[in-house]
Formats: sequence, C-alpha cells, structure tokens
Amino acid sequence: MSSQISLRVNGVALTRSVEPTQLLVDFLRQDLALTGTHVGCDTGQCGACTVHLDGHAIKSCNMLAVQAAGHEVTTIEGIASKDGSLHPMQLAFKQCHGLQCGFCTPGMVMSSIDLVTHHKADTETKIRDSLDGNFCRCTGYHNIVKAVVAGGQAMKA
Ligand code: FES
Ligand code: FES
Repeated sequence: MSSQISLRVNGVALTRSVEPTQLLVDFLRQDLALTGTHVGCDTGQCGACTVHLDGHAIKSCNMLAVQAAGHEVTTIEGIASKDGSLHPMQLAFKQCHGLQCGFCTPGMVMSSIDLVTHHKADTETKIRDSLDGNFCRCTGYHNIVKAVVAGGQAMKA
C-alpha cells in the first residue's frame, strides 16, 4: 500500500505517493527524474548514490523514500547557483581534472562537500580515508584529492 510523503528536494516542497519499499535513490531518479544521482552497486558500497539529507551526506540506496519524509534532500542538481554557475567543489573537480568518465563524480562531489563542511580533513591521507566509501574506477584518486583540497579552500574563501 503506497503512502504519501512530503519533503523538500533541492529547495522545492513536494508531496508524492511512494511504495513502502521504494528506495530513496529510485524515488529521486524515477519519480523526480533527478538522474544525476547514480546507482553503482545498490549495496551501500560505491557511493555513487550519495546525496545530502538535511545537509549531511547519505547513500540514497541505503534509505527508503518514506524515511525522507519531513526532511530536506539535496542532489547534485541542487548545488549550483541559481545563475547556473558551478558550486566551488564542482568547479574544483573540473579544474583539477578530478573526473574521467564522470560516473562517480556526483557522489564524490556530494561527499566532498560534506567532508569539507562537517569534518576536518586537511591532509591527503585524511581525505583519502574520508572518501573510502566512494569508489572511482578511472582516476586513481590523485586528482580527486587535489580537487577536494582546492574545493575546500574555495568554499572557505
Ligand atoms: S549505489 Fe548506493 S552505495 Fe553504490
Ligand atoms: S571518473 Fe569514472 S568512475 Fe570515477
């Protein structure tokens, strides 16, 4: 039996009917067409599905849509400025060549923003440790770490 949930997604208040077993990632991708949030494993390991729930990074394949009721969800589509300019962390990934195929990138960016905002990860080792829940099959992580450093500095400027 479906139930109605009300929540905010990327600053917009929504009320939708969802099945009790529907994952948050499927709700975002299928019901709201926010396909920037990716599915890489569905088992909570890869981090491709990372979004923010009330400003903190969570893996949206690990959460039911009904559990997001009453909360604020932010996806990669919601972090750029209204004029379309990239978030400082997005810009840093672009400028530092922190992506290749881009599949992991939305989750990496969302985790990195959380990392800079809520955790002190100011060395390469700490950044690598903190991002160990986000897998990248392409880059070897070196430029991702550089991007997180640069993005963090830009966010604090
Ligand atoms: S799809 Fe959610 S962690 Fe991989
Ligand atoms: S850029 Fe391809 S998986 Fe990370």
